[in-house]
Amino acid sequence: MGAVAPSGPTLARLEVAAAEIANGEPIVEIGAGTGPMTSEILRQAPASPVLALEPNPVLAADLQRRFPSVRVEQAFAQSLPERCAAWGHPQVRRVVSGLPWAIWPDSLQTEILDAVLAILSPDGRMVSFQYVHSQFLPAAVRFRTVLESRFGGVTQTPIAWANVPPAFVLVCDHPRLKERPGPTLHG
Ligand SMILES: C[S@@+](CC[C@H](N)C(=O)[O-])C[C@H]1O[C@@H](n2cnc3c(N)ncnc32)[C@H](O)[C@@H]1O
Repeated sequence: MGAVAPSGPTLARLEVAAAEIANGEPIVEIGAGTGPMTSEILRQAPASPVLALEPNPVLAADLQRRFPSVRVEQAFAQSLPERCAAWGHPQVRRVVSGLPWAIWPDSLQTEILDAVLAILSPDGRMVSFQYVHSQFLPAAVRFRTVLESRFGGVTQTPIAWANVPPAFVLVCDHPRLKERPGPTLHG
């Protein structure tokens, strides 16, 4: 359930289109890798400022060289709140993910989702791809359940059959804000 290969152009088009970016609004990408989604974000939303996080130093340096207009940071998605605040956009409406979520334990998924939810506005959306061949494996099913516990609406796009391997995009809407403690009753 990790990446078999970098996402191809058909999947990148599908995922970025599913994000429904308003050209000009700030966009966050997590797990940018070799940059197929980055390139597509710039194509579909050329006026949007983009923050791309990629922890691999070689990939991050290469991304910055190829996409000079993008703010590339060699960082894990867990640091999103600090990174977005320093960028000047503490809240965004759209997060484009290339993370291999399902290979991770629940605790790491939760840690990263906490960071994503901390920067998503109430009308925010996260998009993330999922390979067709692995969608019914227990880890993928479990991750879908985790997503459904953190977002009020999780839907999926049609399949990008031209991608190797075929994949679809999970579209996660209505981020659930952490419950705030209720008012204290006195008297
Ligand atoms: C499956 S690849 C996807 C790359 C690219 N987005 C694509 O679609 O081809 C996942 C990428 O996420 C990066 N990554 C792994 N753990 C991460 C984390 N905690 N935060 C951000 N990126 C991470 C990896 O270094 C890798 O480049």
